[in-house]
Amino acid sequence: MSLFTMKNVQKTFAHEEVEEQILKGIDITLPEGKITALTGASGSGKSILLTIAAGLQTASGGQISFEQQELTSMRNEELRQIRAKQFGFIFQFAHLVPFLTVQEQLDLMLETAESPLSKQAQKKEIKQVLELIDMWKRKDAYPASLSGGEKQRVAVARAIIHSPKVLFADEPTASLDSKRSEEVMQLIQKLSKERNITVLMVTHDTDMLQFADHVVEMRDGKIVQDKIT
Ligand SMILES: Nc1ncnc2c1ncn2[C@@H]1O[C@H](COP(=O)(O)OP(=O)(O)O)[C@@H](O)[C@H]1O
Ligand SMILES: [Mg+2]
Repeated sequence: MSLFTMKNVQKTFAHEEVEEQILKGIDITLPEGKITALTGASGSGKSILLTIAAGLQTASGGQISFEQQELTSMRNEELRQIRAKQFGFIFQFAHLVPFLTVQEQLDLMLETAESPLSKQAQKKEIKQVLELIDMWKRKDAYPASLSGGEKQRVAVARAIIHSPKVLFADEPTASLDSKRSEEVMQLIQKLSKERNITVLMVTHDTDMLQFADHVVEMRDGKIVQDKIT
């Protein structure tokens, strides 16, 4: 049994009288501890699939299972707990809280995820992760004083500080130049390896596919290619 699988996932939106099928039966198995890249043209359904996989919106049909639990038939509160504790999220923009320092962003995340660690262990973990992303020296800085690349590194740290099992990333490098994009991807790759985090990443940037272990290409709501690299 695999950690995370999607089976025949469908999504339909009602447009006036007409039903439009956006996801037409998607099957994907995420290899555990590896990076799966979801690629394809704009409008092919990548972001919708990612948000459905992450339990942020509901599917119209199909099954999504995480650790042998069926996300699609779960009650909201159960799903919320899984999202907060077992999943991590990164988006195109860092979305840091403007009035919190770098360190406080991570503190807040541990609180939200109801971290089982003691306060002291949390402090240690935050220091370790900030050193890893080379931001310990900027721990007291506010987002406004950080560069785009630094903000996104903090967003990556915040997404994994609570030791999630699955990391969902939607175009995590789309707001960065190619050098910063590679840095962020190297960081995601390193964290995924060291902490055995399973990653589902949406990207339309083919340069980022070199960091993936598994590439799934979508077109018009269907999978047209699925390969382990
Ligand atoms: N709430 C919605 N209602 C109707 N159509 C939607 C909605 N959200 C997204 N879509 C449509 O679903 C398609 C796939 O969108 P999306 O997953 O964002 O594509 P991608 O991330 O691959 O660029 C697009 O054609 C978009 O217009
Ligand atoms: Mg998208």
